Amino acid sequence: MRKKVIAGNWKMYHSPNDTKEFFKEFNDLVKDTQNEVVICVPYIDVASALDATQGTNIKIGVQNLNHQKDGALTGDVSCKMVEDIGVKYSIIGHSERRQYHHETDDYINLKIKSAFEHHIIPILCVGESLLEREKGITKYKICSQIVLDLDGLTPEQAKNVIIAYEPIWAIGTGRTASSEDANQACKWIREEIGKLYGEEVANEIIIQYGGSVKPANAKELFTMSDIDGGLVGGASLKPQDFAQIVNYDK
Ligand code: PGA
Repeated sequence: MRKKVIAGNWKMYHSPNDTKEFFKEFNDLVKDTQNEVVICVPYIDVASALDATQGTNIKIGVQNLNHQKDGALTGDVSCKMVEDIGVKYSIIGHSERRQYHHETDDYINLKIKSAFEHHIIPILCVGESLLEREKGITKYKICSQIVLDLDGLTPEQAKNVIIAYEPIWAIGTGRTASSEDANQACKWIREEIGKLYGEEVANEIIIQYGGSVKPANAKELFTMSDIDGGLVGGASLKPQDFAQIVNYDK
């Protein structure tokens, strides 16, 4: 049985003070869950978040990484820096970064490899646009992202990637993919992983759904056969809402 991993993506919301307030309320609400809870916060919030979750079952992640060791790269943060502070997860290749920061699959692949060198688990986002869905090329789009983004990883590394299937048209729009469509896409990803890395890796890899997950639809999505939890944006900003999503099975 694969565990469920439920991750929040705060994007550019919540200041360090908001972070303290959030965890004051949130920690107790999820302390009894068997599900893995990760919250990916803005860099500026990492220290507050680590401090506020010490000794709890909540893991802290970031939302992006630079693959280079160091360098004259104004505004960037390296995997080594993230490792140093004790963060173990990072979202990589979110569609907002692909779109607004022109991140390519080759570049995302470098980040994933660098993350592994620094013991950081990548939460790799893949997903199709509305146009691609309407053209019937969803499977082609997400499988080619998988092939390119994971290129050169060992099976052991591949097994430890968390994949978030996030249809771009469902992110922040209130439009959720139907549970059947979301599950189908996660199945395609699992099959592709099977072709690349074999059955064992395909059976073990965690594949989340993301895109307008909320308390009202979490249970239906997370109980589908191939959906192993979620990547949650807007609904992860409020302690009560995100706790309800984490506790979907209570
Ligand atoms: P959303 O965002 O839940 O607000 O749609 C999901 C994401 O971007 O990861």
